[in-house]
Amino acid sequence: MEQPLPYSEKVMDHFTNPRNVGELADASGVGTVGNPICGDVMRMYLKIENDIITDAKFKTFGCGAAVATSSMVTEMVKGKSIEEALKISNKAVAEALGGLPPIKMHCSVLAEEALRSAIMDYYKKQGKEPPFKAPEHGGHGQDGHNH
Ligand code: FES
Repeated sequence: MEQPLPYSEKVMDHFTNPRNVGELADASGVGTVGNPICGDVMRMYLKIENDIITDAKFKTFGCGAAVATSSMVTEMVKGKSIEEALKISNKAVAEALGGLPPIKMHCSVLAEEALRSAIMDYYKKQGKEPPFKAPEHGGHGQDGHNH
């Protein structure tokens, strides 16, 4: 008998039909981050007007779980203020997708960090101090991986 896939229907939906793939030519902030666990790369583009995220797009050299989480994150942040967007954790994204296998939780960190890095870039471009620190690897305690 075939093993059922370890992915929820929502993950499969966002993987096979990802939302917001591409670039924003007039992005207010762009963030690129690499995943220290697998070496995959994520880039996120944000359009921000009056501290509200009005558009978001992403590109990735990442796995299916990275595609699905980024697709979900770009959907979740649209219309949110920067403050609200910064509260979105990789766990919240994974939950919104109906869960991820534990071994793939590190992929969702890539989406969260790319989002923070794009917001950071926005602040930098504005000549302002970001209200948080640069994404740091290993500080998340996200899933017990520490290699
Ligand atoms: Fe690299 Fe998922 S295996 S992001």
